[in-house]
Amino acid sequence: MSRVPEFRNFINGEWTTSCSGATIENRNPADRSQVLGVFQKSGAQDVLKAIEAAGEAYKRWRLVPAPRRAEILFRVAEILVRRKEEFARDMTQEMGKVLAETRGDVQEAIDMSYFTAGEGRRLYGQTTPAELPNKFAMSVRSPLGVCSLITPWNFPMAIPSWKLIPALVCGNTVVLKPATDTPHSAYNLVKTCEEAGIPGGVINLVTGSGAEVGTPMMTHPEVKLVSFTGSTETGKTVSEACAPAFKHCNLEMGGKNVIIVMDDAKLDLAVEGAVWGGFGTSGQRCTAASRVVVHKKVYNQFIDRFATQTRLLRVGNGLDPNVDMGPVINESQLKTVINYAEIGKSEGARLVCGGNPLQKGELAKGFFHEPTIFSDVAPKMRIAQEEIFGPIVSVLPANDFEEAVEIANDVKYGLSAAIYTQDINRAFAAMRDMVTGIFYVNSSTIGAEVHLPFGGTKQTGNGHREAGIQALDIFSEWKSIYVDYSGRLQKAQIDHD
Ligand code: UN1
Repeated sequence: MSRVPEFRNFINGEWTTSCSGATIENRNPADRSQVLGVFQKSGAQDVLKAIEAAGEAYKRWRLVPAPRRAEILFRVAEILVRRKEEFARDMTQEMGKVLAETRGDVQEAIDMSYFTAGEGRRLYGQTTPAELPNKFAMSVRSPLGVCSLITPWNFPMAIPSWKLIPALVCGNTVVLKPATDTPHSAYNLVKTCEEAGIPGGVINLVTGSGAEVGTPMMTHPEVKLVSFTGSTETGKTVSEACAPAFKHCNLEMGGKNVIIVMDDAKLDLAVEGAVWGGFGTSGQRCTAASRVVVHKKVYNQFIDRFATQTRLLRVGNGLDPNVDMGPVINESQLKTVINYAEIGKSEGARLVCGGNPLQKGELAKGFFHEPTIFSDVAPKMRIAQEEIFGPIVSVLPANDFEEAVEIANDVKYGLSAAIYTQDINRAFAAMRDMVTGIFYVNSSTIGAEVHLPFGGTKQTGNGHREAGIQALDIFSEWKSIYVDYSGRLQKAQIDHD
């Protein structure tokens, strides 16, 4: 048996072990016997060192011209392109989703790096006329300082890149804590940044738990911004931790996304969207289509076809090219999914297919669950309201378009929604009326692109948008500047009217 590799933290440009010497194993959720590596189990002391390093590095990095910072980020993109396949395989092994999807995840980091590095030559501000003669007015973006980035396991390279790359192009320095389940993909991204020539201290990687590593990252006075993606519950904790010192925080949280299927929809497209949106990444996307609201005229037909396609999905190890859906991330997530399948049954929804964990043969080695559909779900049932983050889809009937939109909006989240219809009027009306940050027409709820703003309304977020040029508003602050070149005493100008 080959030796298990050890991975270290990256602090002040050096790969270091945790102060306590403690480590955590990284295991494959498709085969728990496979230990992929050991990572540092860091604590507050490690975080402190990382924040100090980031604070020191900020003094220089903020003065590097943005186009020069961006040159390094273009190199990050180029290295990711070369190593895409290797990084995708590492990711499939550490978090389970199929190779086609992990390739997509690395590709998002590539796209984000190219797109946002381009901002190094823009970072546009405004010039405006001033009220006085011989006076000049403009606004410019300023970096914030040290940023804490706390990222989830479902997009373990893409989401760190959504935060890291805009933070860096704006001139901030960072401490990154990846999810405990996926340190390897974050390691690969940070290693890439090192190879691309990011100076020491600008990026610091500290692996470990939320309680031990995340907490000091939120409370340290040197930290100016906390950027978090994860559950709404944890987001609330982040928000509260940031409030006393008025630290900026940007929160990207839960979803209970919906596909509306109208009576005039092309059903084959709608079914494909529901399968891919519901069961891609084993349903563990914040954009997952965990609800489908179907017009009563096509309700039975839709359910039959949706169930037929779902039963064809092959579940297994994501490295196998014949597999469509991998495991869920860990034991506790599997328990959650099993529990929600029980909740669905006890609430009186009709179990159409799936409903059970998969524990036979090779599958017994990992955390597998059948893709599961409930129909006849009522809008107030827990399976229609709560984010499950697993392969369970609830199908709800609607009498007409208005009722469909009402049901679709009746959740506490507001990330993504979709409508399948051939009626352009309904498509536009739904686009207007769905209270979500992302909306799709004749396409599933997933697949957002990096150059458009990403984020949600209600309890999905706190008003920010990641990705796009909108991400720059998270990672910089505006400074308005007035230059008086009149050479006159200011007092003489006061009554300029
Ligand atoms: C997430 O689910 O946490 O739109 C992010 C999508 C992806 C990003 C999802 N591009 O599905």
